[in-house]
Amino acid sequence: MANQTGRHFLQIPGPTPVPERILNAMSRQMLDHRGPAFGEFGLKLLADIKSIFKTSNPVIIYPSSGTGAWEAGFVNTLSPGDHVLVIETGQFAVLWRNMAERLGLKPEVLHTDWHSGGDADALEARLKKDKAHDIKAVCVVHNETSTGARTWIDDIRKAMDGARHPALLMVDAVSSLAAMDFRHDEWGVDVAVSGSQKGLMLPPGLSFTAVSQKALAASKQAKLPRSYWNWDDMLAINAAGTFPYTPAIGQLYGLAEAIAMLHEEGLDNVFARHERLAEATRRAVRGWGLETWCRDPRAHSPAVTAVAMPDGHNADAFRKLVLENFNMSLGTGLNKLAGKAFRIGHLGHTNELTILGALAGVEMGLELADVPHQKGGVASAMAYLAETVRPATAKAA
Ligand SMILES: Cc1ncc(COP(=O)(O)O)c(C=O)c1O
Repeated sequence: MANQTGRHFLQIPGPTPVPERILNAMSRQMLDHRGPAFGEFGLKLLADIKSIFKTSNPVIIYPSSGTGAWEAGFVNTLSPGDHVLVIETGQFAVLWRNMAERLGLKPEVLHTDWHSGGDADALEARLKKDKAHDIKAVCVVHNETSTGARTWIDDIRKAMDGARHPALLMVDAVSSLAAMDFRHDEWGVDVAVSGSQKGLMLPPGLSFTAVSQKALAASKQAKLPRSYWNWDDMLAINAAGTFPYTPAIGQLYGLAEAIAMLHEEGLDNVFARHERLAEATRRAVRGWGLETWCRDPRAHSPAVTAVAMPDGHNADAFRKLVLENFNMSLGTGLNKLAGKAFRIGHLGHTNELTILGALAGVEMGLELADVPHQKGGVASAMAYLAETVRPATAKAA
């Protein structure tokens, strides 16, 4: 590897760079996880994480990646042979659907073109046909990390209500939580799953599941086998701030710090920052004369931008060249996007100069790789960021 000086630019859509404050908070001695000090800490943490999901319902924290929370959502609420409808927006929806099949559920797929988010009208039409209410759950990925397209969950809720369908609404908020607005209670989400390594700015290893009262009621009837993932065991002991097995204590210290940081900035400011850096990224892409993979302007992700590679150029060869020459990791294209797109992550602990550095690396990489493009993408991003500088900062300057 030619260039490894300076700091590595980790511009993938998770894991994202971990702020020093969180690294320091994690670097503390362990506690007795069944002792009173831990119970006090756990109670506050379990209450505070609810503010990130905008819920008054329980949020379950497992020592697992996001995939574990997918499994927990299914096995706690559904029974063998239950019909689930998965909106296939990209690779993560595909993986979620495959898990449903492996667990003995009957997944049906509502297809999209992978260039946009989920289609609420198509969902409503499908649910209206399900007069017998065979469909027990609708699964939708809020931010499809593989394509850079978001689905508007309030539209999905309206579609389900419009069809008067009682299915559970399961939302994958793995790469959306703490990067874009998420309103668990207001949007009537039943099971929302997330992970630590994206907007929450933590290392990978924690998953989160926000659970509605309707999902809890469903869990009383559900018959899929469950043990480690059993919500009942978890919720019973969480009442004292403790966990049914040894929790990931260091990660939980980090989580407390992450929640504090998000509230210090203000969640709305966090979301606005993500929107602004995403818009700067898209202006750079347009400036280069390239196209984002997501083609629907309303669906552009605030967290990640997938860039379509011009025909005849391999996106992975381009990523390799950028890594070797500029010490930057870009996200690979997954499934249908393999070799055809690269992804620029702009979520979590990031700011104007970080994204401009990343975009400069891409622009230089396009030049080195002889990818046909126009100059000036970074200049467009800079112009936009300077124009939209926050008023307080502008005044101080
Ligand atoms: C949208 C989405 N869902 C699910 C996952 C799987 O999460 P994990 O890798 O933490 O198991 C990811 C991971 O990138 C993701 O982006």
